[in-house]
Amino acid sequence: EDFFSKKKSLTGEKIVITAGPTYEKIDPVRFIGNYSSGKMGFALAEECAERGAEVTLIAGPVSLNSHNSSIRRVDVETAEEMFRETVEAFKNASVGIMCAAVADFTPASTADVKIKRTGEELSIALKPTRDIAAALGEIKKPEQKLIGFALETHNEVFNAQEKMRRKNLDFIVLNSLQDKGAGFRCDTNKITIFGIDGEKREYEMKSKAAVAADIIDFLEAIMH
Ligand code: CTP
Ligand code: CA
Repeated sequence: EDFFSKKKSLTGEKIVITAGPTYEKIDPVRFIGNYSSGKMGFALAEECAERGAEVTLIAGPVSLNSHNSSIRRVDVETAEEMFRETVEAFKNASVGIMCAAVADFTPASTADVKIKRTGEELSIALKPTRDIAAALGEIKKPEQKLIGFALETHNEVFNAQEKMRRKNLDFIVLNSLQDKGAGFRCDTNKITIFGIDGEKREYEMKSKAAVAADIIDFLEAIMH
């Protein structure tokens, strides 16, 4: 069907996308996780693949399928596994899109056997995970682009722009929490994009597929 159509806009680009939550093991049957569905990251993967890119989709535990044969999917569970796979894949990529809701903390140790009920209070010591986006920001070459996401409950514009600078991103996508029907577990999303050169672009509430198209349009505009 593509035979007569013009060359696709992302042909030749290698794009690494992280998506979904991570699960951090407490014991053999329990984990710390979050409500990320992975839908936004998977929508971005489909959009990039449809535009001709070769996509590596580093997916945390999600119940989603990718449909395009140009998407190479790498399933991971923990923040540490996601870190290793993403850093490796970014080395020969042109773009990184950090869409995963990576755990910020992981149990300091994982119990070998199921923790038993005692009737007493239980505390679990947590240690910080590594910041994947920040690590890519440090190894990023001038010709590579790096995109991040932010979801904030307060001072959202300030915090999003601070994250963009601290992690050396080219732009950051702020998910609005103000509106019902946006963000986690939803099929729709309302975003604002902040660029490193001071650009600000606000979008209407849309399906995650349409939001993905807006984000990739913004990416293409800064690539060309
Ligand atoms: N991110 C990442 N690795 C982490 C944590 C976050 O790659 N260990 C990425 C996210 O995928 C997102 C961006 O960093 O693109 C911002 O994530 P966010 O959770 O908003 O930022 P944090 O730096 O973790 O700050 P906090 O959660 O304390 O607000
Ligand atoms: Ca975080």
